[in-house]
Amino acid sequence: MKMGCLKRWPLKRWLGLGLIVLHCITLGCAQEKKVAKSKVGEKVGLPCCYKIPSSESLQNYRVYWQMNVTDVVLAYAGEKKINEHPRYVNRTKLDFENLTLWISSVEILDSGPYQCIVQSLQSSPDKPGSHLLCGEPVTLFVTADFSKPNIEREVTASSCASTEMVVRCSSHGGFPKPEIRGFLNDERVVLNTTWESESSLSPYNVTGTLWLNMTKDSNFTCFVEYDGLLRSTSLLLAKANDCIVSTALPSYNVITASSIIIITFVLAVTLAVKYLPRHACSHCSKNQVSAEDDVKESMNPPHSCKLTCEMSSL
Ligand SMILES: *[C@@H]1O[C@H](CO)[C@@H](O)[C@H](O)[C@H]1NC(C)=O
Ligand SMILES: *[C@@H]1O[C@H](CO)[C@@H](O)[C@H](O)[C@H]1NC(C)=O
Ligand SMILES: *[C@@H]1O[C@H](CO)[C@@H](O)[C@H](O)[C@H]1NC(C)=O
Ligand SMILES: *[C@@H]1O[C@H](CO)[C@@H](O)[C@H](O)[C@H]1NC(C)=O
Ligand SMILES: *[C@@H]1O[C@H](CO)[C@@H](O)[C@H](O)[C@H]1NC(C)=O
Ligand SMILES: *[C@@H]1O[C@H](CO)[C@@H](O)[C@H](O)[C@H]1NC(C)=O
Ligand SMILES: *[C@@H]1O[C@H](CO)[C@@H](O)[C@H](O)[C@H]1NC(C)=O
Repeated sequence: MKMGCLKRWPLKRWLGLGLIVLHCITLGCAQEKKVAKSKVGEKVGLPCCYKIPSSESLQNYRVYWQMNVTDVVLAYAGEKKINEHPRYVNRTKLDFENLTLWISSVEILDSGPYQCIVQSLQSSPDKPGSHLLCGEPVTLFVTADFSKPNIEREVTASSCASTEMVVRCSSHGGFPKPEIRGFLNDERVVLNTTWESESSLSPYNVTGTLWLNMTKDSNFTCFVEYDGLLRSTSLLLAKANDCIVSTALPSYNVITASSIIIITFVLAVTLAVKYLPRHACSHCSKNQVSAEDDVKESMNPPHSCKLTCEMSSL
C-alpha cells in the first residue's frame, strides 16, 4: 500500500476522495489533528478510524499502518501479517477488533505521522473488489525527560560592593528541543542558550549561561521546558563577602579585649582582696568613679578599690 496503490485508483476513486475532502471540510477536519503522546520506553496505542463490527472478523479486511506517509510499519491481510518495518519488529501489535496499533519500547525515532488504512475485501454489486474504508492520520509525539537542571557558578571578580559571576544551568538527555528560562529573585533574566544534539531526532543537551554583577544575595531559578513539561532547580547565589577584612577582625578584637578585661578583673579582685586593708574602703569610696565607666578602668586603683569595697561589704 505504497503510493503505487493510489496511482492504481480509477477516476471514480479520485472522485470518492473528493467527497472525503468535502466531508472533511464540512466537519472541520477534526480527525486530521489527532495526536498521541508517549515517553521513550513506554507503550502507546494509536487509534484507528475503523472498528471491525462484532459480527465480522479481521478475515474480511486488509489493514495498513503506515508512517511518514508511505512507510509500512505493520500490515495485515486477513489475520495474516504481510509486512513489518525492521525498526518495529517485536515492538508492534495490532488489536484485531478496533485496529489500534500498539507500539512498545517507544523511541524518539517513532515520532511522526501515522496512518491507519483499512480496506474491505468483501465485494458487493456496487463496490467490486477491495475498497477503502478510511485512512486517518494520527501524529505521535515522543518525549524524553530531561535531567534535573544543574546550576554551576564561577566567581570572576569580586569587591566589597559587588560580585561578578558566570552562572550555568544545564540539563541533558531530553526530547524535544527545550527552552531554558531563568529567574533572578522572581524576575525573568535572559540566558544565552546553547543546544547539543546529534540530529533533530536525537536527545538534546542544553546549557543556559548568565553573566551577573550582584550587589546582594540572590535566588536563581532555572527552568527547562519541553513539550509543556517543566523541570527546575533553584540556588541561592551568595554574594562573595570581600568586605571580610574590615568587618571580621573587629569581632576578633572584641573577643580578645573581653578576655583580657575578664582576666584583669579577676586578677585585680584577687589582688585587692589579698593586699588592700579594709579601712581603704572609706577612703576610696569618696573617689569612686561612675559605675558606667569603661571596664578597662578596673585596672586603676580607685576602681578596684571600689570593687573590693563591694566585695567586702557582701
Ligand atoms: C481498543 O481495544 C483495546 C482493548 O482491546 C483498548 O485498550 C483500547 O483502548 C481500544 N482503543 C480504542 C481506540 O477504542
Ligand atoms: C520516518 O522518517 C524519519 C526521518 O526521516 C526516519 O528516521 C524514520 O525511520 C522514518 N520512519 C519509518 C517507519 O520509516
Ligand atoms: C524478536 O523476537 C524473537 C522471538 O522472541 C527473537 O528471536 C528475535 O530475535 C527478535 N527480533 C528482534 C529484532 O528483536
Ligand atoms: C552567547 O554565547 C556564545 C558562545 O559562548 C557567544 O558567541 C555569543 O556572543 C553569546 N551571546 C550573547 C548574546 O551573549
Ligand atoms: C549530553 O550530555 C551527556 C551527559 O553529560 C553526554 O554523555 C552526551 O555525550 C552529551 N550529548 C551530546 C550530543 O553532546
Ligand atoms: C559591577 O558593579 C560594580 C558596582 O555596582 C561596578 O563597579 C562594576 O564596574 C560592575 N562590573 C561590571 C562588569 O559591570
Ligand atoms: C527561590 O525561588 C524559588 C521560586 O520562586 C522558590 O521556590 C525557592 O524556595 C526560593 N529559594 C530560596 C532559598 O529563597
